[in-house]
Formats: sequence, structure tokens, C-alpha cells
Amino acid sequence: MCGILGMVSKDSFSVRELVSRLQRLEYRGYDSAGCATAEGFLRRKVGSISGFLASLPEDAAPDATTCAAIAHTRWATHGGIAEQNAHPHCAGDVCIVHNGIIENFLELKEELELKGAIFRSETDSEVIAHFLQQYAAEPDLHKGMQDLMERLHGTYAIIALRKGDPRLWVAKKDSPVVLGIVGSGGSASADGYSSYIVSSDIFAFSDLTRKAVFLEDFQYLMIDAKSARLYDRKGKQLPVKPKEFHWESHNGGKMHYEHHMIKEIYEVPDVARNLEESLAGPQAASLSRMISLLRESSRIILLGSGTSYHAALLGRHLLTAAGLDAYAYASTDFDASMARSHDAIIAISQSGETMDLLVTLKAIAARPDRGDIRIMGLVNVPHSSIERMADCCIRVEAGQEVCVAATKSFANQIVALLTLAKAFGFKTTYARLPLAEVIEQAEPVAQEIAPWLASKQSMYIIGAGACYPAAMEMALKIKEVSYIHAEGMLAGELKHGTLALIEKDVPVIAIIPDAKSHTVSSVKEVEARGASSVLVAGADKAELGLKGKALFRVPAGSDAEVSLFAAICGQLIAYYTAKHLDRPIDKPRNLAKSVTVL
Ligand code: G6P
Repeated sequence: MCGILGMVSKDSFSVRELVSRLQRLEYRGYDSAGCATAEGFLRRKVGSISGFLASLPEDAAPDATTCAAIAHTRWATHGGIAEQNAHPHCAGDVCIVHNGIIENFLELKEELELKGAIFRSETDSEVIAHFLQQYAAEPDLHKGMQDLMERLHGTYAIIALRKGDPRLWVAKKDSPVVLGIVGSGGSASADGYSSYIVSSDIFAFSDLTRKAVFLEDFQYLMIDAKSARLYDRKGKQLPVKPKEFHWESHNGGKMHYEHHMIKEIYEVPDVARNLEESLAGPQAASLSRMISLLRESSRIILLGSGTSYHAALLGRHLLTAAGLDAYAYASTDFDASMARSHDAIIAISQSGETMDLLVTLKAIAARPDRGDIRIMGLVNVPHSSIERMADCCIRVEAGQEVCVAATKSFANQIVALLTLAKAFGFKTTYARLPLAEVIEQAEPVAQEIAPWLASKQSMYIIGAGACYPAAMEMALKIKEVSYIHAEGMLAGELKHGTLALIEKDVPVIAIIPDAKSHTVSSVKEVEARGASSVLVAGADKAELGLKGKALFRVPAGSDAEVSLFAAICGQLIAYYTAKHLDRPIDKPRNLAKSVTVL
């Protein structure tokens, strides 16, 4: 989703510095980028941030140094990918950047046009600039921000500035925004620091500071070079309470890897081990609180979107196998009214900000009869909206994931769910998951079959029981990064219709925990019709009695463990197929890592 960035500093900085920092948010959207300074410099450009950076004047250009500036990287919603739709949007002396969707923008636009505003873009966001422009002549934008929050319907994280005024104004509803405070200053306030960085997420400044202020809905900030002041929607000043956060400080580089995706797949064994240690150590209290809340609950509802939904599906198998009454839904498939008294809702999300999930959680939390419905989080990014609203939360501690497609965060979601299930009696095969072995054995096979898969228009991934979520996840990964159609299905369902599509050399990837699995029969059925099967199995071809064009031999284990191993094989299959096709693997077209709109 869009990334917004604002910087105010005692010392001047260049727009190149600002835009380099914006690159840390590029996974939030990469349709266009732009920036504006209090001195009146404005530049917008379609395409990647690196292309934008290359188009900027050198540091020495006098109009390109500043003490207050805003920047934006866009994931288009309203209006095509074009320069006039890129942010910042400006009206007179006011420029803004926005993440979210303004639902009543047409009504506001008509109203502002009657007053003489001339709109230049097709976006919903531009109304914000024209709205605030009405207050441009006032000494400050307090009234403008309060009226804006009164009038806007929808979701927003906004940063506004006025030409000639080195202050930033920030407003929030539903979309995430956080203030990083850099340098040393007042310990219990945000006064006297050397610079202030406002952003959609903490990674924008995690290399510079560990102190941040997380804004809540209907709050706004005024930031100048000396302080950051927080207000409620009526303009009442609120205490600013910086929080200490711990997050990766690296610059988001790929080290010696060609892509973030492969780097992040290689990190799986380490982050999984770190999480196991964390759940036995620093997070043990959160884990036992979650376990006791789950014990008191009657049903467990696991929710998530995209890859996190697939983790929810596997979580359902694990918790059901452990004797709990568990269900999994995609975030958009679960309505708050479906939650019942004594339900435990487990919200799974890498970012902790996915709007499809957040709206459901907020609706549950707002139910007058919410009573003892518990909301729990399984998130990666610390202090995210979901973590802040949850009754208890486990962090999956996969670290910063830069590739848009989730890999290591999925693995750690499953590690956390396995740990929860174990607490209820689920029997695992491994005390320590052999994830490095999985990667080592799978990588050459993925490399070998990639050219063949890359030549296909479509493929099918099948699995049963706990391996069905891995089939879904493998298909999603292949679609996301290679752009080849892949359908993940229940093995048993194939014969009820989809079998009509099976012909000579169609790839069918089957996830088979052992020779007893019913998926073996499904593979026989497709092999009989000329399909080329690829087996991801905890047994050899001979034991399975299958032809198999290729075999990913994974360690044998419980179905859920094999499912995780298969999902990792799927990450490698997707990666090498996409690499063969020379796709922009880390930033697939049309996608964004953190989807903060509905
Ligand atoms: C986006 C990403 C997916 C991700 C999904 C849910 O669509 O591209 O990779 O799985 O959002 O994100 P979350 O942060 O809630 O796990």
C-alpha cells in the first residue's frame, strides 16, 4: 500500500536523503513516487523510487535542501498510474501525501469546486490539499486539521505542509502512521530532539532510532524542528508518550543475494530457531497468557488474508488435531456478527495492518455485546495496529521482510501455531524442525524444473488435510512472483470437475506426507491422463508407486510439519520459476506488501 514519509530536522537535509529514506518503504507500493519541501521544491514521477532518485538534482542544488519535507510511494487506487495522480498533491501553498481512501471525495470535490478549486488529478487524495488550502492564510493549521477530520469519511494517514512554513501536520484514521524521534531529547516527551520522521511504518527510521510514537485514530500531530505535539480531533493537546521498539536497523539491502526473496527463504531456519527460543524465553509469558485464554474459550476462529490466511488454515488443522474447536476464515469472509460469546479470535498478519482484517477486528471490538470475545494477535511487525488492539499477542519475530511475497514470516507463523498446538497435546515429530535440510534438498530440484514450469500457462497444486493449506500457499506464491496461473486445491476435489482440464504434460504438483495419503490416488488419476506430476513427499517414488517427473523429498513427519516443508519447497519453486522468466521478483506488478485499504 502507499508509503508516506515526512521529515523535520534542526539541520537541513537534501531531498536525495529524504528519497533514499523513502526507498525503505518501497514494498508498500511502487507505481510512482514524489516529494515536496517547505521551500517549494516539488517533483513527482511514475515508476520506481530508484528512477525517481536518479532524476533529482544533486545535493548542492539550493532549492533541494530543506528542514521540512514530505514524500510518497504510491500503490494506485483511485486514478491510473500517471504523473498527475502521483503524490504529493498540492493546492496553492499546501501539499499533502496520503495513504488510505477518502470515501466522500466526490461530495467534497463538488463543494470545493464551487468555491473555485481546480482539480488536476483523478485521485481521491487531492481533495485533502484543496480542503486544507482554505486555511493556508491562517498562522497554523490547527483548525484546518480539526475540520478535515470532521469532514473526511474513509481511511487516512496524511502528512501536510505549507510552502514557507517548516512544520508538518499529520492526521490519522485507520491507516497506520508512526513518528520516529531521532537524537536525544526529553525522555517523557517528544521535545528537543534533533529530527522527527513520520512514516507508514517503523522500518523507515529503525536505522536511526528506537523511539517512536504510534498515533491512534482521530489524533493529529504538529511537528516543528523543536518538538512534536499531539492533539485530539477537537484540538486538545495530549501527552506524547514515546515507546521503545526493537526492530531491524539494516538498510534493507540484499547483501550478496540477487533478490530479497531468496535471502528471506534462506533466513527461514534461523528465524524459526530464534522464535522457538523467544517463545521459551522472552515471549513465554505472552504464550502462556494466550494458552490460558484459549483454554477458557469455546471456539477458536483464525483469521488472515493472503499468505496469513493459509497460515490460519494450517492453524485450524493443528488446533483441531489438538482437540480444540477451531475454524479458519479469510478476513473478508468473516463478519463480526459471526463471532459468539466465548470465542477466541486469532488474527494472523505479518504487517499487523491489513485493513481487511483490521475492520473485522474493530467491528468485533465495538460490538456492545462483545463481552468475553477475546482478540489475539500473531503478528510480525511490533507495535502494529493489531498488536495494539489485541488482548494478547505473540510476535513471530521473522524480522523485516522486504520481498512483497511472504516467505520467512509464513514459516514463523506456522512455528508459532505448532507451539500453541503442542501446548494442547499435538504431537510433533521434531523438537527442532529440519528446515535447513528442507531448503538444501529442495533448491536443486526447484532449479531443475523451473525452465519446464516457466514454459507452462497453468498448473495445479494438490494436497489433502493439513497439506491443503500448503497447496494453496504454493499456488499463491507461484502466481505472485512468476505470473503463471496456479490453482491450489484439495486433492479429492480434482476429480469433481477440474480433472477435465488435465491433459498431456500439464503440471500437477502433489503434496503427499506418506504412502498412506489419499493424494496418491489423485496423482494416479492425473498421471493416467498424461499429466506430469511433481511430488513433494515424505516418501520415495517407489514407496508411493508414482511416476513423478520430479521429487522433492522432504523429511517425513506429522502432516502439518510436512505441510510447512512443502510450503518452503513452493517458495523455492516460485522463486526459480520467476527467476527463469526474469520477473521483478521482489516487487511483483500490481501488488504491495501491506494492504491498508479495503
Ligand atoms: C498482501 C501481501 C501478501 C500478504 C497479505 C496479508 O496481499 O502482498 O503477501 O500475505 O497482504 O498481509 P499480512 O501483513 O496481513 O500478513
